Amino acid sequence: MSQAVEEKVEEQEIDLSGANQILDKYTDFPGALMPVLQEIQEHYGYIPEPTVHLAAERLNIYASQIYGVLTFYAQFHLEPRGKYIIRVCMGTACHVKGAGRIAETIKDRLGVGHAETTEDLKFTAEYVACIGACGMAPVIMVNDATFGSLTVQKTDEVIQKYQKMD
Ligand code: FES
Repeated sequence: MSQAVEEKVEEQEIDLSGANQILDKYTDFPGALMPVLQEIQEHYGYIPEPTVHLAAERLNIYASQIYGVLTFYAQFHLEPRGKYIIRVCMGTACHVKGAGRIAETIKDRLGVGHAETTEDLKFTAEYVACIGACGMAPVIMVNDATFGSLTVQKTDEVIQKYQKMD
């Protein structure tokens, strides 16, 4: 491991053994950047910076090339994300029916706005375009579950339900 990677690891206290194991499988496949990044994200929940430098070193490509891929594809995240991703629909139907109020309630109760994560890494909020459930507007999703016809009170209930979960 180069000194640059070691410094990044110390800075962020990341255990690179998981990333090394993933990279071990792909050492003979230099074009395997996408599956490598997908597996790293699956392992850590996001792509920690030291793993980018490690992957660059081991796949013999520039870190800048990897950052290019990471910023191009919305599926990759460079910051830790919450266990529960709350997607607040901001599409037209939801907007008209009070999505702003729902987003404010979430911000007020959890302290997170768009693309923000609570310090305990439990919740990440994301404001998204229409999620195809306009008949139930305003709508949020928490991971795969959809909650519609929301009021401030119902939003509170949803938040409380997930707060009680691990
Ligand atoms: S606008 Fe929100 S689900 Fe379509």
